[in-house]
Amino acid sequence: MKITKICCIGAGYVGGPTMAVIAQKCPHIQVTVVDLNEQRIADWNDPNPENIPIYEPGLSEIVSEARGRNLFFSTDVDKAIDEAQMIFISVNTPTKTYGKGKGMAADLKYIELCARQIAKVAKQNKIVVEKSTLPVRTAEAIKSILDNTGNGVQFQILSNPEFLAEGTAVTDLLNPDRILIGGDTTPEGEEAINALIEVYSNWVSKDRILTTNVWSSELSKLTANAFLAQRISSINAMSELCEKTGANVSEVAKAIGMDSRIGSKFLKASVGFGGSCFQKDILNLVYIAKSYGLSEVADYWEQVIIMNDHQKRRFSNKIVQTLYNTVADKKIAFLGWAFKKDTNDTRESAAIYVADDLINEQARISVYDPKVSQNKMLNDLDYLETRSKQDNANYLNVFDNAYEACKDAHAVAILTEWDEFATYDWKRIYDAMHKPAFIFDGRNILDAKQLEEIGFVYNGIGS
Ligand code: NAD
Ligand code: UDX
Repeated sequence: MKITKICCIGAGYVGGPTMAVIAQKCPHIQVTVVDLNEQRIADWNDPNPENIPIYEPGLSEIVSEARGRNLFFSTDVDKAIDEAQMIFISVNTPTKTYGKGKGMAADLKYIELCARQIAKVAKQNKIVVEKSTLPVRTAEAIKSILDNTGNGVQFQILSNPEFLAEGTAVTDLLNPDRILIGGDTTPEGEEAINALIEVYSNWVSKDRILTTNVWSSELSKLTANAFLAQRISSINAMSELCEKTGANVSEVAKAIGMDSRIGSKFLKASVGFGGSCFQKDILNLVYIAKSYGLSEVADYWEQVIIMNDHQKRRFSNKIVQTLYNTVADKKIAFLGWAFKKDTNDTRESAAIYVADDLINEQARISVYDPKVSQNKMLNDLDYLETRSKQDNANYLNVFDNAYEACKDAHAVAILTEWDEFATYDWKRIYDAMHKPAFIFDGRNILDAKQLEEIGFVYNGIGS
């Protein structure tokens, strides 16, 4: 099947950038990204490409090149489904907050809604591509819905998980390590796989396009995220031991990373990993293992999350202990709120949990983040339901300037590794703070020696 029209359901952190790159690289394909969220679509259509709803380096340039040419953002879901030969499902699959599997399983209600809408609207054969991260064997459920409620048309379901990381989404999409496509081994399945290979072949070399069966593809995505997160929890576990023993976690990471079997990436000790994927996907993996009665497998992976929660709590405890066991009424400046640099995404950011702990101790938090709005920060805290919205607003103050945020603070905590933080005039910050002036560098990005020379009491992770 020759693909000339693609529809993507879900204009989020994955759907938006992925489709923008497909549209840029395949000018002969019309790509329409649809979403139920009218504001989000309006933001994608904002005449000023700088105002698109997702901040990713390089994204606004690609959107301005392709938008209106062969890239469209719309709320008319039915029309886009009807016209497309290939439909990507890229909706959110958060952890369930209710019922069976609450707090563990992936909530598939948005996926099911998409499948039912496709079934209702489709009048010709379609290829349905799972782009969202899904529990293994979800394709079976989608197929059952499509085949039983459809209009007698044929559907092929492919799994094509997305491996982009936020903050580097554009470069990841332009130069992927691999493209993974899972599909049926029937002739129709192979035809669908080939149609998707052809789309990616416009910019990805064939040796980087890997095909598997659907279940391997679905499970590979959960496995990749579990392995990546496991590395962070492993180095973070070592960071605590380093702090007790005089070892330095950055030196340990470098020493082990030079072993080519281990490799140097993803060994940065931190205040704990955040983001919308790692925790959700591991909890889902744990739930799946448990549902097959594999308790050892489930416990093994659950430990990655337990360690991460511990690392976040350890960071806030350390601040309280170091500040003479009380932070009540003290101003603590947070540099960074996003879960990593170069994104405006704050989902599961360590900053939220550290702020919540410190506000429990009645600290006053002042925050500066180059890309996150005050509204988003307060929503993040309110979502935890630890205290009233009014109390959160009283305790959390947001600044659009780091120097103002740090003025009169008792301590500065680095929560995100934004590059600009290392370039500040730290002497100026020191002069405006209460003494002793403490720094808690949750990302190990500052020059400890230089800060100590200025007069700061420096605390990094794992040293
Ligand atoms: P997101 O919340 O940013 O975007 C999802 C969008 O889907 C939302 O705008 C929502 O309004 C829309 N939506 C939900 N149901 C809909 C429906 N029935 N019809 C139309 N629109 C609907 O989520 P995201 O971060 O883009 O993640 C999407 C999926 O991709 C998830 O499964 C996630 O695990 C996976 N993933 C995310 C990343 C990442 O870095 N964020 C990376 C790889 C994979
Ligand atoms: C992750 C996966 O990397 C990506 O392949 C998948 O598609 C989606 O989930 P993302 O969450 O966007 O991507 O960013 P990532 O770079 O993986 O960082 C996740 C968290 O781990 C961040 O909070 C980051 O600061 C933290 N991290 C990462 C560390 O603490 N140490 C590291 O060495 C690497």
